[in-house]
This record gives sequence, structure tokens and C-alpha cells, in this order.
Amino acid sequence: MISETVLERIRNEIVVYHDPKRIPHVMGVEKACCELCAFLSLDECTTRSLRFAALMHDCTKNWKTEKHLLYLRDKGVYISEDMLRSKKTLHQLSGAYFTREKYPEFTDEIAFSAISKHTTGGQMTICDAVLFLADYIEETRTFPDCVTIRNYFHELALNSGDKPETVLSRTMLEALDLTIKDLIKNGKYINRDTVYARNYYLLITGET
Ligand SMILES: [Fe+2]
Ligand SMILES: [Fe+2]
Repeated sequence: MISETVLERIRNEIVVYHDPKRIPHVMGVEKACCELCAFLSLDECTTRSLRFAALMHDCTKNWKTEKHLLYLRDKGVYISEDMLRSKKTLHQLSGAYFTREKYPEFTDEIAFSAISKHTTGGQMTICDAVLFLADYIEETRTFPDCVTIRNYFHELALNSGDKPETVLSRTMLEALDLTIKDLIKNGKYINRDTVYARNYYLLITGET
């Protein structure tokens, strides 16, 4: 299990990978992961893997497209047409591989998977959804859709009476709906993993 000392070490080392202005966001995602894990009663080992993933999730966000492509090709990673068309999402893949390269001893399947899906979604586990949502609703986010989803989550958590997993799924559905609407509004390409995840949460929440 990743120790608190390791997390403290990573917190000190992330300044190397992240733009200084992104540090409050990264810290906010770690905090939101902690809160979501507690809400879902996830165990300490899983929680710490997700906190580690939170600290590293945007570690390649500053890379140019060419750097992502060279790095991923060098690792032998298949880059789908879909990923090539939604370039802003490339950092989720390069970020997962870079995290594993830098910290192989701490990058378990939970952390790797969550980082590799934190932007597009896809076939999501509860852990993947925790990082995805933490990234969306952490406290420093001021983008209107993020504020809407943060409030939506808190309202459901406090007043819906739904099980925590259902609250997570309903919030994921709402977040993915807003993401897709925003992409459409701005004439942007929609990665098929995002559509897949949206339909998945639509089906499991029964909101069809
Ligand atoms: Fe990201
Ligand atoms: Fe992020």
C-alpha cells in the first residue's frame, strides 16, 4: 500500500511535471478523491492509489501533440483515430504511461487505469469514475459546468437517499451529458469513449 510518506514525497516532486498554475487543481483533485472514496467507503489501499493517481493525472498536460505521439509510439502504444481527433485527450494516455515509467513501484492497475480514462471516460470502474469526477468537481474549478456538477453531486449525496454508488453514477451521467453538450456547442469532435461512458451510466441509472 502507498504510504502517507510516499504521497508527501510525490506532492513535493510533482512541481517538476506540472505547470505551477496547475498545482492547486492537482491538490484539489487529490482532496476530492479522498472525499469521494470516503463517501463510497472504498478501502484505504484503493484510496491511496487514487490519491497518487490524482497527483499525477495531468503530468503530461503541457506536452505538445508531437511529444505525446512520439512518446506513445516509442512505448508501442496504439493510438486510435479517435484519440488523434481529440488531441486534448492524449495526455490521459501519455500521463498513465509516464506515471508508470517514473513510479513503477506505485503505479498499480487502479492508478494506471484511472489516469488513462480521466478525460474521455470509456469502460469505467468505480475507481475510474472517482478520478474522473474528482477532476471535474474539485473545489478550485470555477467553470460553470463544473460548479453545476459539484452542486448536483452534493445535492444528491445529501438529499436523494440513493446509495453512494447510485449517486456516483447519476453524477457521472450528468457530467458526461454536460461534457458532450459543450463539445457539440463548440463544434468539437466527441471521442467514442465519452459516448460509451455516457450511455453506460444512462443504462445503469435506469434514466432512459
Ligand atoms: Fe487532464
Ligand atoms: Fe485535471
